[in-house]
Amino acid sequence: MSISNFETILFEQKDEVGIITINREKKLNALSEQVLGELTQLLEEIKDSNKDWGLKGLILTGAGEKAFIAGADIKEMTEMDLETAKKFGKLGQDLTLSIENMPIPVIAAVNGFALGGGCEMAMSCDFIYATEASIFGQPEVKLGLIPGFGGTQRLARIVGRNRAKEFIFTGENITAQRAYEMGLVTKLFTNKEELMAAAMKTINKMAKNSPMAIYHSKMAVNKGVDIEVEKGLDSELNYFASSFATEDMKEGTLAFIEKRSPNFTGK
Ligand code: CAA
Repeated sequence: MSISNFETILFEQKDEVGIITINREKKLNALSEQVLGELTQLLEEIKDSNKDWGLKGLILTGAGEKAFIAGADIKEMTEMDLETAKKFGKLGQDLTLSIENMPIPVIAAVNGFALGGGCEMAMSCDFIYATEASIFGQPEVKLGLIPGFGGTQRLARIVGRNRAKEFIFTGENITAQRAYEMGLVTKLFTNKEELMAAAMKTINKMAKNSPMAIYHSKMAVNKGVDIEVEKGLDSELNYFASSFATEDMKEGTLAFIEKRSPNFTGK
C-alpha cells in the first residue's frame, strides 16, 4: 500500500481496518486548512485504491489522550474574511460529506474533547464510540460563530430539533454520558485502549457481512433519513433490488441454504 506523505494526519492499516489519526496533539488536533486538505486527499486515495487494499472499515480518532478534535482552528479563522471563510466552510462541509458517503463504514473513536468542528466530524461518521471522559459541544456561538461543518444540519437529525437548538444556542459542553443518553454516542468505554479495541472489533464483525449489502444499506439510510418516508422507501427499494444483482447476495443466500458460512467477495 502506498499513500501520500501527510504532515497533520496519520494513516495505518491493521488487517482490514484503516485507522486515521488527526495528529496535531499540541493544538488539541484543531482542524487547520491543512488538516482538512490532507484528510480530503487521504479519503480520495482510500476510495481509489481500496480494491487493492481491501479495507472493510475506517476509524477516525485524535492523537493523544486529551482531544479527539477541539474544533476548527480558531487562530486561522481570525485571519479570514467573508470570502475566505466561505471557502474554508465549504472545504469542511465537503469533507464531512466525503466521510458520510465513504463506501465502507467509518466509526468515530472520540477520546477527549469533540468540540465545534470536532463534534461535526464525529457526526459525519456512521456512528460514534467515545471514552467516558470525553466532552462534546458546539461552542461556536461563544465565539460569535455558528457551527459551519454541518452541525446545524446533522445534530438536529441525530438528536432532534429541540435538543440541537438547546445544545447550539447555549454552547455548553456536555459529558460523554449525556451524549450517550441523547443518542449522539452509541457506546462508551473506560479508556482509549478499550475504545480502539472495540472499534476494531466492530469493524471486524461487520467485515464478515456482505460489503455490497453494507454499502447499499448505508446509502439507503443516509439518503432516506432526510426525506419523506415515501421517497425514502423508493430509495430503499432501489438499493434493495440492486442487491439482487450482486454476487454477494447469491453467495449469502446460497450459503444459508447450504448451511455454511458465506464467502463474500464484495462484488
Ligand atoms: N483552534 C486553535 N487552537 C486550539 C483550539 C482550536 N479550536 N483548541 C485548542 N487550541 C490550542 C490552544 O490555543 C493551545 O495552544 P497554545 O499551547 O499554543 O496556547 C493548545 O491548543 C492547548 O489548548 P488549551 O491550553 O486551551 O487547553 P485547555 O486544557 O486549557 O483547554 C479546551 C481545552 C477547553 C478544549 C480549550 O482549548 C478550548 O476551549 N478550545 C476551543 C474550543 C472551541 O471553541 N472549538 C470550536 C471552534 S469553532 C469551530 O469549530 C467552527 C466550526 O464549526 C467549523
